[in-house]
Amino acid sequence: RTVDWTAEAAEKGGYDHYMRKEIHEQPTALRQILECHSSGEGLPDLDSAFLDGIREVQFVACGTSYHAALYGEYVATERGIPASTHLASEYATHARPVSEGTLVVAVTQSGETADTLGAIETAQRADARTLAVTNVVGSSAARVCDGALYIRAGPEIGVAATKTFSSQVVALSLFADQLAGEDSPSGPVDFGSLPGGVERVLETSRSRDIAERYRGRDAFFFIGRGVGYPVALEGALKFKEISYEHAEGFAAGELKHGPLALVTPASVVFAIFTGQDDEKLLGNVREAQTRGATVVAVTDGTNEEVLRQADDILSIPEAPPTVAGLLANVQLQLVSYHAAALLGRPIDKPRNLAKSVTVE
Ligand code: G6P
Repeated sequence: RTVDWTAEAAEKGGYDHYMRKEIHEQPTALRQILECHSSGEGLPDLDSAFLDGIREVQFVACGTSYHAALYGEYVATERGIPASTHLASEYATHARPVSEGTLVVAVTQSGETADTLGAIETAQRADARTLAVTNVVGSSAARVCDGALYIRAGPEIGVAATKTFSSQVVALSLFADQLAGEDSPSGPVDFGSLPGGVERVLETSRSRDIAERYRGRDAFFFIGRGVGYPVALEGALKFKEISYEHAEGFAAGELKHGPLALVTPASVVFAIFTGQDDEKLLGNVREAQTRGATVVAVTDGTNEEVLRQADDILSIPEAPPTVAGLLANVQLQLVSYHAAALLGRPIDKPRNLAKSVTVE
């Protein structure tokens, strides 16, 4: 009798795929980064002198890290920090003007993405100060930048990034806290409820039912406003990467400027309600439903109109918008996972994709 046990199965800790394991590691990963913040004055990786004189932040990143950076931009902007987010591949060929007060922040899980390293090089040639926000200690990005901030998510094996997205967003928010200082127009985001909120989503998610119910539909759209927008982009990226189904993410307000032409009764639209601009998002939901689409709302259920209007619901615990966006993202990670699993896709190694892309 052979023993049904391999080193890989052991590493997956009882889960069928690394991706599933890594989705479930999020509460632990988040506690790790949040504890290292609360235990001291500011982030241990960044001494306050490093941020002296910084008046503007430019984020550069690719893929999922780009979506985390965009989320970070929303948080930083709310704290009064002028911030912008750029695809690293574009930044390398079309650099932004920088001044003495500019910090270019490279957001990269691996720290080895060629496009991102190219953007750092462009920034350094223009004499900008640079910071790497990365998961890998001693990675190329950490070495070439003037400073490094570690997201402390632990190793991520699945090609589709999951836990590192959440940890990147928290790291960028903590970074924004440190930079905003006392004069900020708004207080820091309280992520205290996030790890427990993610646990609750993992325990109660109806994502498998949703994936099963809408299997075989023609297209899957993801819409949101505010931080719901980067979550929509990330939800669609995850979905297409591992299920190979047609998926697109849009800023909800843009639906009427083009994408609505794609919406038919064979479409499913995931609408991400975070408590910010919910009424406007409801208007977009109706626009999609009028064209026959099925709408799945990701919501905390406090707005009864959302519950009445949506065709289906994925619930998240009640939380402020910045936390709600991350909770919604976990629901969407699970939907993608189950959609891909039901189709028998090779979830941890999708065709044509690599965990770390070292060519430009
Ligand atoms: C690849 C991966 C993506 C990842 C992107 C950026 O395309 O497949 O999951 O988001 O690279 O990687 P980085 O390591 O720079 O965050």
